[in-house]
Amino acid sequence: MLDHSPSVPHRQRLLFLVAITAVMAAIGAVVPGMCMLTPTLSLFKHPTRLFSRAAKSPLRLRAFSSTAFIDTKTNQPDSIVVEKEVSKSINSLACPVCYDSLTWNAVPGLSVDTISGSTFQCSTCQKTYVGNQTHLDLTATGGAQSYGELMPASTELFRVPLISFLYERGWRQTFSVWGGFPGPEKEFELIKGFLKPVLGGNIIDASCASGLFSRLFAKSGLFSFVVALDYSENMLQQCYEFIQQEENFPKENFILVRADISRLPFVSSSVDAVHAGAALHCWPSPLAAVAEISRVLRPGGVFVATTYILDGGFSVIPFLSTVRQNVRQVSGSYIFLSERELEDLCRACGLVEFKCIRNGLFVMISATKPS
Ligand SMILES: C[S@@+](CC[C@H](N)C(=O)[O-])C[C@H]1O[C@@H](n2cnc3c(N)ncnc32)[C@H](O)[C@@H]1O
Repeated sequence: MLDHSPSVPHRQRLLFLVAITAVMAAIGAVVPGMCMLTPTLSLFKHPTRLFSRAAKSPLRLRAFSSTAFIDTKTNQPDSIVVEKEVSKSINSLACPVCYDSLTWNAVPGLSVDTISGSTFQCSTCQKTYVGNQTHLDLTATGGAQSYGELMPASTELFRVPLISFLYERGWRQTFSVWGGFPGPEKEFELIKGFLKPVLGGNIIDASCASGLFSRLFAKSGLFSFVVALDYSENMLQQCYEFIQQEENFPKENFILVRADISRLPFVSSSVDAVHAGAALHCWPSPLAAVAEISRVLRPGGVFVATTYILDGGFSVIPFLSTVRQNVRQVSGSYIFLSERELEDLCRACGLVEFKCIRNGLFVMISATKPS
């Protein structure tokens, strides 16, 4: 049988990761001015203040790219125009082994309600995947009887049921306190601004956790199909429960998929948009992940993501890149030390038109698959 219980050294790594998170939270609370570190809690209460401050002090919120200044006006829902050149359905589910398309028996269509018990089969290797009550497992190990692999702690941590339960009940909110995250409402506005060219198409919310943004994407009606994707089955379970609790949630054209970001179960060039909130730093290999995202995006498709950058005041810390190396070895987390690194990462994976918006440690990036 598959033993998913963490080994003893693995437990130690998990504990170390929790400790790092706690230390970073403490740093944010104790040294609020460090490296433009902490927008005050009032930003939480008055999200629009982010922009009024930015107007006075461009250093606190910078919106720029190698080519153009980001017009924050495009973030207003009124100005959103759904363009035509987008996919109208998700016929792009693929086998995570062969990357060839899956056929499925879901009747009348694919949705969070019809996934349970549906069978999906790879047209090439014939491997089958069966949906359970909450989600479809499209990891390469899906269906394996006695083989399993442990991921780095930064991935495994989120599989813990308690973390999945706490994620939207306090954990995520701390990102605004010490990390400069503007908060879901404002982040969603910024995301929509970046995704303007692909609105009306399908979207993968990669590493969605309990579906904070997946649910907003679905409810906005701005996308033809939403895939909420995460490696953690418990996060997906939590997302499913939130959806069940919501009245009039648009369950059609919405599915929950378990997958590894480094092995995305989608046909190449079939996806209009990929969003990844607060996840780049958690991925075992940001390079493998962004390369996969680039593979599945269709020409003109857009990638938008948020993460942290430790630059500014942190640059004076000696041996920071060595510290990063050690953090990575122990926890699997990747600490970005500059915007240039993120731009390079996108470029190395064939994505262009890099843009970013910053606030303290928070950064939102966007890049496009060349047309
Ligand atoms: C900090 S949460 C981000 C959640 C959400 N997107 C947000 O904006 O709040 C990071 C997520 O990355 C997921 N993750 C970590 N490693 C992953 C991997 N290898 N493949 C897919 N998801 C992964 C975790 O399960 C977790 O849900």
